[in-house]
Order: sequence, then C-alpha cells, then structure tokens
Amino acid sequence: MKIITVLGARPQFIKAALVSRELRKKHTEIIIHTGQHYNHELSGIFFEEMKMPIPDYNLGIGSDTHARQTGQMMIELEALFLKEKPDVVLVYGDTNSTIAAALAAVKLHIPVAHVEAGPRMNDKAIPEEVNRVVTDHISSMLFRPTPVCMDNLHREGLTQGVYLTGDVMLDCFLHFSKEAEKRTGIMDNLAIEQSDYLLATVHRASNTNTEENLREICKAFIELSKEIKLVFPVHPRTEKYLKQYGLYQALKNTPNIHLIKPVGYLEMLVLTKNAGKILTDSGGLQKEAYFAKLPCITLDTVSAWPETVEDGWNIVVGEETVRQQLRRENIINAVRSFEPNKKQQNIFGNGKAAEKICDSLAC
Ligand code: UD1
Ligand code: UDP
Repeated sequence: MKIITVLGARPQFIKAALVSRELRKKHTEIIIHTGQHYNHELSGIFFEEMKMPIPDYNLGIGSDTHARQTGQMMIELEALFLKEKPDVVLVYGDTNSTIAAALAAVKLHIPVAHVEAGPRMNDKAIPEEVNRVVTDHISSMLFRPTPVCMDNLHREGLTQGVYLTGDVMLDCFLHFSKEAEKRTGIMDNLAIEQSDYLLATVHRASNTNTEENLREICKAFIELSKEIKLVFPVHPRTEKYLKQYGLYQALKNTPNIHLIKPVGYLEMLVLTKNAGKILTDSGGLQKEAYFAKLPCITLDTVSAWPETVEDGWNIVVGEETVRQQLRRENIINAVRSFEPNKKQQNIFGNGKAAEKICDSLAC
C-alpha cells in the first residue's frame, strides 16, 4: 500500500515517529512536511533525535493567518496527491496541517486515516477543536486513543472505521525513555534535581493572545518561584507575546525561573520525568504528565483529555469566563495543594498503538 503521511507541527513529528517505522516494514510511505513549524528546535531536531526519515517533500508554507496557511497547504498538497496517487493519506492530531491534508485528500476521493481521533473540548473558538471535528468527519479510518474518544465519536454518529489503538504518544514515551537517559546533562546545566522544580509550557492561542491570561500565568510563575524552581521552555509564539506585553524581561530576571528555548523530545522527556509537578496548556504534555505519574495543572478552561482529570491526576484551573480565564491565585493554589491520590487506570493503552494502527490500515 502507498501511504502519504502529512506532518507540519512539533507534536505530529513525535506522534508519527514510531508509526512511520512500523509502516515502512510492510508499506511504502511518503512523508510531506507542510513547513508549518520550521525552526530547528520545533522541527528538524525531532527528525534527528527520533531517527525519522527525512520528508520526501517540504512545502515550506510557514506561519500565516489560519485561512491563508491552511489554504496554501491545500493547494500544494492537492498537487502532490495527484502526482503521487496514494492509497491513503495519514494525518495526526488537530493542527492546520491536519485539516488541510484531510480536506485536500477527501475531495480527491482518497481515504483519510486520522491518528488521535475523538478528543473534544466542545468549543469552536479553539482552532484545534474545529480541525479535529472536521477531520474526524471526513476520515474513513479513525484511530482513537481512549474509550472516551470513542464515546465522543459515537455521539456524533461516527461508528464506522473506528479502531481503539491506544495512544502513540505512550509508545514514544516508553520507547525513547532509555535514549533520554543519555540527556540528563540538561539537569546539571540548569542546576535542577529530581522533584525540586516545576515544568511549564504555554502556547494555546487563548493564553497567548489574551494579555490578561498570559499576565496572570507569569505572575503566578513569579510568585511560585519564591518556593520552587520553574523550568519554562518557551514556544516562539509565546516568546513573541511575552515580549509584546512587556512580560519577558521580568520572567528572565527572576532567579528561580529558567526561561529556555524549546528543547528536543529527549531532553523534554528528562525534564518531564524528573519534574515535581507540571503546569501546561499543551494536550500532549498533559498526557505525558500522566504517563510519568506526575500531577498536572492544566492552564486552560477545559482539558482535551478529561480522562486524566477524572482519574485524579490532572486539575483544570481556568474559569469559563468570556475573556480572562486564568487567575494567578487558582494556579498558585493548585500547585500548592493538588496531589493525585488514586491509582492510575489504564487509559492510554499498552504502548503498542503504532503496531495496531499499521495492522488496521492493512486490513
Ligand atoms: C500549532 C498548532 C497547535 C499545536 C502547536 C504545537 C494550529 C492551529 N495550531 O500551534 O495545535 O499545539 O502547533 O506546538 O495548527 N513560529 C515560529 N517558528 C516556528 C513555528 C511558529 O516562530 O517554527 C511562531 C510564529 O510567530 C507563528 C506562531 O509561532 O506565527 C504560531 O505558529 P503556528 O504554527 O501558527 O501555531 P502554534 O501556536 O505553533
Ligand atoms: N515538547 C518538546 N519540547 C518542548 C516542549 C514540548 O519536545 O520544548 C514536546 C512534549 O513533550 C510533547 C509535545 O512536544 O511530546 C507536545 O507538543 P505541543 O505542546 O507543542 O503541542 P500539543 O500537544 O499541545 O498539540
């Protein structure tokens, strides 16, 4: 079978790494990188560290408004799909690269297979929600990581071609953990030790584009840094807004806060596994906190992974208000008091999602 995999953003490179390895045992895979993420620390480093094949095509689309970015991707993907004539187009997650590839393929009557189908946040103001709902509805094969995702798909009438595979991010977490042990130098460089720091990431549009939210997050981080160190690998979108709102320098000058460039997957695994607690608005990192059996404080009004909240390992601190959703006292209180007290359920499968996806694709 000839499969075209379309990738574009950091979490997609991670999700595809082991599926791609597995696919290539039996099938022909062509990788198209849309170029949505282009900085080395958001793109190239993942291909190197996870030993992924170099993309066959890189469209170099780059950053733009949603419509222009997605539209440009569709135009270029359509041409390549016509040229390469794949049997199936494989997409991951919920980015603009995902929806662009799915739409371009379905209109050429090429079946779309969607890895990480089914999470729902039930809010159309979230760009990723639009991307994942539309992609699910135009896909022929839906690889859903958790039972909750299946319930969501069923509620929307999506019952055909749905496969429970477990989560490919758990595959990666388990597979790359040993390799990551060689990267513990980052802990020495930052002068941090196991459990003596918080790990934080922020990049959701609702947090970066609303000044009050980003301001409250920064104030909470500065307040917390009086009690504990905080490591904050900063996404370029966030860096841009921190500077625009005049918040960057205050964070940079706070002694216990390590404001660092985004790191590669292996160093991120080291930082995650050794953290005391995790603060994030990233869907992927919420799952990784769960894999690492660490308390997660979600800097959002809703989690894409409510299973982790229900299981007692994740707390959502945002409030459902029109504009400002995050308040520093809620973040600080959660860090001080939130402690998971339940044994974990087996929510995300057994680390064999990549194999299951490849087996299902072939059937
Ligand atoms: C995108 C995805 C989001 C995913 C995230 C993973 C969409 C709508 N959003 O968000 O779902 O969680 O990737 O990290 O697809 N930039 C750079 N260098 C880069 C890439 C981006 O400087 O290599 C800056 C640019 O200023 C750009 C901004 O970051 O405008 C946002 O990039 P974009 O890809 O549009 O969205 P993300 O926030 O990265
Ligand atoms: N990640 C990384 N380096 C960083 C920050 C995050 O490798 O500096 C990894 C993280 O461990 C997870 C993935 O990127 O595997 C999550 O991607 P991101 O937060 O960009 O997107 P989301 O999951 O929210 O879509």
